Amino acid sequence: MSEKVPIGADHAGFDLKERLKAELIELGYDPVDVGTYSTDSVDYPDYAKQVAEQVANGTATRGVLLCGTGLGMSYTANRFPGVRAAVAWTPEIAELSRRHNDANVLVLPARFIEEDAGVEILRRWLTVPFDGGRHGRRVAKIEAD
Ligand code: RB5
Repeated sequence: MSEKVPIGADHAGFDLKERLKAELIELGYDPVDVGTYSTDSVDYPDYAKQVAEQVANGTATRGVLLCGTGLGMSYTANRFPGVRAAVAWTPEIAELSRRHNDANVLVLPARFIEEDAGVEILRRWLTVPFDGGRHGRRVAKIEAD
C-alpha cells in the first residue's frame, strides 16, 4: 500500500501544493490533502495543525506544509509533541534536516522558491535517511525534560 503523506498549505502555498501533490503521486505516494483548496486568504495554523496532528498521533510518519515564508507553518507544527518541522529552501537544507534532525515535516517557503526547486527539495527530503549516532542523542534531547 502507498504511504499516506498529509500535505497542507495556506493561500500563499496553494499553487506549489498542487504541484507537489502531483509529484507525490508520480513518486508512488498517497497525498492526503488537508487544504486549502484555492488562493482565497486563509489562516495557516488551521492547516498546520491538521498535518502535525496526523504525524503526532502516528496516522502518518511524515507530512508536508507550505506557506509564504514557511515560518508560520513551522511555528505551529513544532508545538505538537514528536513533530520536527523543518523549513527548507534548498535541497541541501532538506537533506540535512533529515540526516541530522530526523525532520518528519517538510515546510516550504512558497513565496521564496521556484516551483521546480520545490520539487527538488521534496524529492531529496523524501529519500534521505536519518544518520542516527550523535544526531540521535541530540534529537532525543529536544523532547527530554
Ligand atoms: C500569508 O500572507 C503569510 O503570512 C503566510 O503565508 C506565511 O508566510 C506566514 O508565516
